[in-house]
Amino acid sequence: MPDDMQDGDDDVREAILLKLGGEDDDAEAVVGWLNYCQHMTHIKLDKGSGAPVRDGEVICVNHGALFAADSGECTYGPCEGAFLNELDVRVADGGVYLDDEDFEYVGEGPVESDDDDLSSSSNVIL
Ligand code: FES
Repeated sequence: MPDDMQDGDDDVREAILLKLGGEDDDAEAVVGWLNYCQHMTHIKLDKGSGAPVRDGEVICVNHGALFAADSGECTYGPCEGAFLNELDVRVADGGVYLDDEDFEYVGEGPVESDDDDLSSSSNVIL
C-alpha cells in the first residue's frame, strides 16, 4: 500500500461494500473495495455518508472519477484505466464476511482522523 493511503493508525484501512444489482438480484453479488480513490490514494470515496453510486459506478467527488462498481475499473476521470483495490468478501448466512488473508476485520465505521469527514457506519475498518 502506498504510504499516502495511510490514515491515522498506520495499519488501518477503510473498506466499502457494494451490493450489485437491484433488490431482486442474487444476494451473493457483493463486492468489497478499499475506500480510496486511485487518482489521489489518500482520498476516500465514502467521506462519511456512504460512497456515492450512480448507474452502477462509484463516484469520487473530488475530481469526478467514475469506477465500475462490479470491476473497480476507473471508466472516466484522471485515473481512467486504474482499478480500485479489491477485498475478497463472501456472503453467508445473511451476512458479508471478509475473506481476504491480507486484511483483518477490526470494526465498523470510519477510521478516526482529524479531517472533516462526517461520521458513518457505512464502511468497515480493516
Ligand atoms: S481524488 Fe478522486 S478523482 Fe481526484
